[in-house]
Amino acid sequence: MNRGLSQKSLMMRSSLRSRRLVSAVPMYVHYLVAGRIGQFIVEDPMVLGHESAGIVSKVGPKVKHLKPGDRVAMEPGATCRVCEDCKRGRYELCPDIVFAATPPYDGTLARYYPIPADLCYKLPDHLTLEDGAMMEPLSVAIHAVANLAGLRANQTVVVFGAGPVGLLCMAVAKALGASRVIAVDIVPSRLEFAKSFAATEIYVPPPLEQGESRITYSERNANAMKEKLGIEERGKKAIDLVVEASGAEVSIQTGIFIARTGGTFVQLGMGAPQVVIPITTLLTKELNFKGSFRYGPGDYELAIALVEQGKIDLKPLITHRFTFDQAIEAFETTKVGKSPDGKPVIKAVISGPDVPVDVI
Ligand SMILES: *[C@@H]1O[C@H](CO)[C@@H](O)[C@H](O)[C@H]1NC(C)=O
Ligand SMILES: [Zn+2]
Repeated sequence: MNRGLSQKSLMMRSSLRSRRLVSAVPMYVHYLVAGRIGQFIVEDPMVLGHESAGIVSKVGPKVKHLKPGDRVAMEPGATCRVCEDCKRGRYELCPDIVFAATPPYDGTLARYYPIPADLCYKLPDHLTLEDGAMMEPLSVAIHAVANLAGLRANQTVVVFGAGPVGLLCMAVAKALGASRVIAVDIVPSRLEFAKSFAATEIYVPPPLEQGESRITYSERNANAMKEKLGIEERGKKAIDLVVEASGAEVSIQTGIFIARTGGTFVQLGMGAPQVVIPITTLLTKELNFKGSFRYGPGDYELAIALVEQGKIDLKPLITHRFTFDQAIEAFETTKVGKSPDGKPVIKAVISGPDVPVDVI
């Protein structure tokens, strides 16, 4: 893949400037359409972009591990480093985080982006800038599956939701040696992809029946799943880890019903802010129920290591590529979920302003 890049340097504001090159298009569609994501409201014009990689343009005098021309994955959240959360190693919880493309902070979809040097991870030579941009969503999956859930070799995993983050969680589970990676989604074509990518088994839930409450449905669904896939509550056929990456209430409920006694449940999907959960089941099974938000210490490094070692292949996830001038089309395509030729979007990437478009 020849990107024919030219290097150019510019003035420096922070410890390092990176020339942004590729940026994946994630949930910004919410900002474009609704002007908000939860409590984050767009009040002024804001540059988008937070899943990015770039080429170092200039470094500050104390930066030793990087030099102009280095290709880097860019971790997009600059934390304060002095608060309680930062100091105890949970910097993703920092209340003063400056996160790219989260109001009021501009994102990375620009020619230059100032970023603290320690948030730039040099890419191994055989990884592309697109791989680098994908380290952001991959780090979300690493944080949930490897870090918070602490998945171990030969454990079994169910992932609800086969969107980009769900798929990446499946890939991490597989890379860490999971013996079963069961993908659940209501869209069969997504499951087909999941199977070709990282899932060992797939499952399409039945439809909700007329007049059936969600919780009744979820229990029925969990029982159907147990039957069809030979899942039990204990022993070798039990599910050690449930990763909920859809945000759907019925998936959260089903996940609690399907997890093993003493198992782990990690919530990644963002859906309705309030849901009904079978709390007695959670209590009597002594589930470890965890929320997962962004990524913390070591997550980017592990993401890069697993891709570097060939344990995770990010390339199949990039379905659409756009030039900087086509950015509006990129957002439109992501919003609709497929390009005019009917190809479904998993991840779309936009090249930087002055990058030749010779990506294949
Ligand atoms: C590994 O997991 C499978 C189930 O997925 C189980 O049948 C097998 O016994 C496990 N092996 C060990 C050593 O635990
Ligand atoms: Zn902090």
